[in-house]
Order: sequence, then structure tokens, then C-alpha cells
Amino acid sequence: MRPSPPPRTYRVKSFGCQMNVYDGERMAELLAQQGITPAPEGEEADLVVLNTCHIREKAAEKVYSDIGRLRRVDGTAPLIAVAGCVAQAEGEEIMARAPAVSMVVGPQAYHRLPAMIADAVAGKRAVDTDMPAETKFDALPARRKVGPSAFLTVQEGCDKFCTYCVVPYTRGAEVSRPFKDLLAEAQRLIDAGAREVTLLGQNVNAWRDEGNRGLEKLIEALAAIPGLERIRYTTSHPNDMTQGLIEAHRDVPKLMPFLHLPVQSGNDRVLKAMNRSHTVGSYLEILDRVRAARPDIALSGDFIVGFPGETDAEFEDTLRLVERVGYAQCFSFKYSARPGTPAAEMDGQVPLAVMDERLARLQAALNASQLAFNRASLGKSCEVLVERRGKLAGQWLGKSPWLQSVHFTGEAAIGDLIRVELVEAGPNSLSGRLLQPAHG
Ligand code: SAH
Ligand code: SF4
Ligand code: F3S
Repeated sequence: MRPSPPPRTYRVKSFGCQMNVYDGERMAELLAQQGITPAPEGEEADLVVLNTCHIREKAAEKVYSDIGRLRRVDGTAPLIAVAGCVAQAEGEEIMARAPAVSMVVGPQAYHRLPAMIADAVAGKRAVDTDMPAETKFDALPARRKVGPSAFLTVQEGCDKFCTYCVVPYTRGAEVSRPFKDLLAEAQRLIDAGAREVTLLGQNVNAWRDEGNRGLEKLIEALAAIPGLERIRYTTSHPNDMTQGLIEAHRDVPKLMPFLHLPVQSGNDRVLKAMNRSHTVGSYLEILDRVRAARPDIALSGDFIVGFPGETDAEFEDTLRLVERVGYAQCFSFKYSARPGTPAAEMDGQVPLAVMDERLARLQAALNASQLAFNRASLGKSCEVLVERRGKLAGQWLGKSPWLQSVHFTGEAAIGDLIRVELVEAGPNSLSGRLLQPAHG
């Protein structure tokens, strides 16, 4: 590679889960600390970080087309760093297939970006997909300015090895960040403007501190911080859903009544083949206890249709489960065979057309469930955390405690908690009537 001038502007593009969004924000802060500034809207950046996701096929293919699109008409390109889970899984392959890329950096090594940029400027390409003992979190600069709702990664990695999933390979083993570091980062987020913090982890409820305290203890400690008004957490695994955490939904008012608890399938044979280590029955039993603790809780989940060997009847079991639970929102996906995972080698791969049909039926059921949940909220009075302006004059957008998008018109400002009555419901949002125009 030819040497290039040091980059003055950057752009970070994040794909995939909320943790990747968080990582993208942290990389941006790291670049800013180096004196590199965000490229103005519509202008080309000197350095582009593609923060990639490997969870499904299209996600990985997208990276190569994005790299191609960065090439200028004269054949040159900005400095390109590929980060995230595709970087971790296919580092060497990216280097071979995309000569325009000068840096490949995995999700556990991105604090080393500044050194890699220096190398790239000198004309040296580099791959760093280590999972070093020193943690990136200790090497990252403090947060400066954040919106009213901020992410905080508390746990990373996965030891569960569901047979379809790449995350245990791309993110590594389950690691929890220390209690006191998290309290300090939460305080910095609040100082930087956050009023709501969402605790993130691939299995967030597997978080444990050195003294074996569970996530509910962290939530209790965060709830005691003045200025922090709302706490959320995602994504949880059914097997780590302890009674202590369930009871926090009853005992900690700042913990919002929302639980994202993926189940993937409504059939026990499929769950076993997925190595989910829970059954439909044990999942429903957890939800019963959650609802006993917090009757108004909004439930959410993830589903995969067309796992190898899934029959029509087994898929119908998933539809039945959806009906039974009454989800407030959900994500559903067609199974995607990921190289290196056990499921990719299984017999009975389901044809695409069958998956398409199942996904359409599942999504229709989930949409109906979501609309029913939103309709059942009508007439309720609740606080909305204002996140941004709406399209219409005087209109604001924010989130209800149940994570519904709510728009309303009236006097407010970003970051306010505004009391509204929910008066209209669609499948994806509600409209609210201002009850209390004071600043919260
Ligand atoms: N740790 C979380 C989810 C992480 S991945 C959990 O276990 O619940 C987010 C979602 O992507 C998963 O819940 C699953 O529904 C989906 N997913 C993961 N691998 C997939 C694959 N190979 N094909 C299709 N969907 C997949
Ligand atoms: Fe993937 Fe399963 Fe781990 Fe979730 S629990 S990240 S689906 S292996
Ligand atoms: Fe994608 Fe990696 Fe997140 S594969 S979903 S970015 S953990």
C-alpha cells in the first residue's frame, strides 16, 4: 500500500446489534481524541470505519459492496478500516479479497485503532483480531456528549453456543465488566446528557461481578444515581433469568417494564436442535413469574423460521406460542446458514420459498400482536422520554415506559420526561395528548 496523508475526518458506519452501535460510538470518540473530526454530512471522509455484523448472510455480503462503493472515480479510496464481527470472523479473507482495506480490527481490539491508523498512513496494512487480556474499556476515552437515551455495555460474549449462531466465535467468551467501572461510566453518561441508560450484553443477564452479584444489584445501584431516570437492559437469555432479576421489575421503579427475552422457536424438538437449553414450557414459566412481579410488563423476543429440519407442524407451534404470549414487539428472521456453525452442516436445510412463506405468516401474527398491545395501552397516562423533534411543527418523538414510540405536540425539549395520555394507536407508534406541559 502507498503511504497516505494522516486522516483529518472520519465516518463510522455501524451495522448489526445495539452493541455494535455502542462500539461504533466508542470508536468515534477514540478517533476524536486523536484530533480526527467527523466528516460533514454529504462530504467524503478521509477515514471510513465499516463496523460490520456477521449474524446473517446479507450482513457480510454488504461489507464487500460497501467497500466497492467507497472507491472514487480516479480509482483511489479513503483509508478503510473494517471492524466488528465480520472483521473478527473473516479478517484474512477481507485482506485478500479487498485490497482497498488497510485495517481489519475485531470487536475486542478496536482500542488499538490509533496505532493501526499510524501504520496505515505509513503504508502498512494490518489485521488485529486478538482478544487481548487488557480490556478495550480501560483504553477508551470518556464519553463527551450523548443523547437522552444512552447505551452502556456491561457484558460481552457468549458461552451458550446455539447451533446456528456466530456470536460465540466473533465476540468470544462471556466477560462481565467490573461494577465500579460501570457505575463510573453511567455517571459520565448522565453528566454528558443521558437520562436513560440501556445496559447491553450478548447475554446481559449473565452479568456477574467479582463478588458474584447479579445484574439486579447493578440495576439497584444505578437506580440510586440522581439524574438517571430510566434503566433498561438487553438482550437476556432465558437460562440467566434469575428470580432476583425478575423481582427487580417489582422493586425498582426506575427499571422500565420491558423485557426482551428471545425464544427462537415454539417447538421443543427444534429448541433442542438449536441447543437453546430451555423448553417452551420453561420459557412460559419464566414469563409467568415476570408477569407476577410486574403485571404491565411489555414482552419482546426473537424468532428464527426455517431452522434445518423444521416441519410445518413445528413452525405452527411457533405461531401458537406468539398467540399465547401476546408480545409487544418482536424480531423475526429467516434462518441463515453461517459457515463454521453446527447447524450449517445439518440435514434438512429448508428451501428459501418455504422460509419466505413462514416468515410472512409469523410477521403477520407478530404485527397483529403488537397492534393489540398498543391498542390496549389507549387511555393510559405515562411519561414519555423525549428523544427528538417530529416531522410536524411542534411535534416531539419519544419512548413510553413500554418502549413504544410516542409522538405528541406541545411545549417540550429533548431529554424531558413528559406526561401524556395515549390516545391513538398504530402498529408501530402511538400518539399522545400532553397532560403536563412542565419541563421534567
Ligand atoms: N444473545 C441473544 C441474541 C443474539 S443474536 C440471544 O441468545 O437471545 C440476535 C438474534 O439473531 C438471535 O436472537 C436470533 O434470533 C438471530 N440469529 C442469530 N443467528 C442467526 C442465524 N444464523 N440465522 C438467522 N437468525 C439468527
Ligand atoms: Fe447466539 Fe445463542 Fe449466544 Fe444468543 S445465546 S448470542 S443466539 S449463541
Ligand atoms: Fe452482528 Fe456481531 Fe452484533 S454478528 S448482531 S454485530 S454481536
